[in-house]
Amino acid sequence: MTGQRDRFLTMKQAGKPIVMLTCYDYPTAVLEDEAGIDVVLVGDSVGTNVLGYASETEVTMHDIVHHLKAVRRGIKRAYLLADLPYQSYETPEDALRNADVLLAAGADGVKLEGGRERIEVVRALVERGIDVCGHIGFTPQTLGSKGRVQGKSYDRAWQLVESAEALEAAGVMMLVLELVTEQVSKAITERLRVPTIGIGSGQYCDGQVLVVTDVLGLSPFTMKIAKRYAGWREAAEQAIRQYRDDVTDARFPTTANAFPVEAEALERLEASLAASR
Ligand code: KIV
Repeated sequence: MTGQRDRFLTMKQAGKPIVMLTCYDYPTAVLEDEAGIDVVLVGDSVGTNVLGYASETEVTMHDIVHHLKAVRRGIKRAYLLADLPYQSYETPEDALRNADVLLAAGADGVKLEGGRERIEVVRALVERGIDVCGHIGFTPQTLGSKGRVQGKSYDRAWQLVESAEALEAAGVMMLVLELVTEQVSKAITERLRVPTIGIGSGQYCDGQVLVVTDVLGLSPFTMKIAKRYAGWREAAEQAIRQYRDDVTDARFPTTANAFPVEAEALERLEASLAASR
């Protein structure tokens, strides 16, 4: 998707923020596409946000493909990015095989976590003509619950700058910076030609990404890095309880929710029922 890659570069050059949002199902994909989200991400956050897993490391290729196909059906315009899940890109061969599966399932490009240790894998994908989005900083697949904010010390900050530059040289089309300190994100953003997309990394990135369940307010809590734009959890809880009460108290369904049989058929049916008693 060279046209889209160029569009994101142009957006960076023009100082126009790129909007990325995660998505895991068809109806939300339709809403995101219609709302003008630039990049829809089928992230491995599907594991903890939708599938009830304890960690992103439990997400499989099968999980991503299942959700990706649903999201693809709802997208007409946006760029569709999919995560390569944990341990699906340990070698260039693994990465190529699994990226091909994601592209066949409808992805326009793939995202993978890691810095300099992933350069060989990124190069192999880029040489095959596959769009790759990098992801550095807090990388849930490898860091898990270890540490959160990245780039507080000089050594870690410099490591992140070097990783970002190495990933750009290897050909990534864009780079997610997760939980990177604001000044370090700014420095990386200024140094790179390709766009940076931040999550919990401050205001100076070329774009932002959030997890859709946080945006909609489906999570029980709101993290400092996210913003809740709706209260779906409360609305859904109320709707489910009302439905339960309506059925329990015989308020739903009513005749208005049912379908009548034809009058003549009903007459004959009642006669047959009476005769067969
Ligand atoms: O899986 C995901 O949702 C992500 C974003 C946090 C960038 O990787």
